[in-house]
Amino acid sequence: MSPTIGVFDSGFGGLTVLRALIERFPHARFVFLGDTARLPYGSKSRRTIARYAAQSARFLVHEQGAEFLVIACNTASALALDAIEEAVPAVPVLGVIEPGAAAARQASRSGDVLVLATEATVQSHAYAAACRAHGLRALEKACPLLVPLVEEGWTDHPVTAEVIRIYWEELRAEAAAQGMNPDALVLGCTHYPLLRPLIEGAVRPGIKVIDSAQSAAGAAVQLFNGRAGRPILSESAPAEPDRGGDAANSPLQTEIRCFATDSVEKFERLGSRFLERPVGTVELVDLGE
Ligand code: DGL
Repeated sequence: MSPTIGVFDSGFGGLTVLRALIERFPHARFVFLGDTARLPYGSKSRRTIARYAAQSARFLVHEQGAEFLVIACNTASALALDAIEEAVPAVPVLGVIEPGAAAARQASRSGDVLVLATEATVQSHAYAAACRAHGLRALEKACPLLVPLVEEGWTDHPVTAEVIRIYWEELRAEAAAQGMNPDALVLGCTHYPLLRPLIEGAVRPGIKVIDSAQSAAGAAVQLFNGRAGRPILSESAPAEPDRGGDAANSPLQTEIRCFATDSVEKFERLGSRFLERPVGTVELVDLGE
């Protein structure tokens, strides 16, 4: 029987992680929850984020039968992983911070990396700690304007390009002041992969831009196969790690159910950009206050 993998994000940015997971687990059932009513998590306190994330995890496990959980939200991974594990103790839980740091380790030669993330993720210094554990020095930068711009659909807009340029200049200056020689930039927020072309246009050549989605999917294979005691997938790796727009044209065998706590129409409209295929009908769910 196909295993059920629950994927959770504060919104629909986590669909970029789901896209990578589908390539690794083509025969799994996926249940995705976007807590759109309470987005953004990135400007909230640890306590609030933990409460929201624990409720969301319980919904996926207790009401939707998820046997594995991927926290496809950097903010929830940074501030609420413990709370989620406590809420659903019988289920293996994977966050995206550690896979992002591992990908940075692979990409960086200088050992200095930069991280763009939400305010809450940066304040937690979860990336700095995970990078330190991999022998890397990380400088983190909060970019609070980027999530609303992506939510607005302004992923290829001159205003967004200008905002990214300003954030980059500030980060570059700070890195120089600290005597760093960064050669990798981690997109530490699930919305930012949609801005990848603009971000790559802003950063100087020689800096590799890292999206933790692929590396999170690889980590999910290790964790879930290990915990299941049997392989729960038929492919160990996608043929091409980032197939970009081609995915939209390939037949989808994987079963996906998407839930949102608000704005179902917006999720259906914008979600396909993140998933690179139609998200289908999104079901509304009420998780309370
Ligand atoms: N999903 C969040 C993250 O990856 C971004 C959106 C939010 O602030 O809730 O950090």
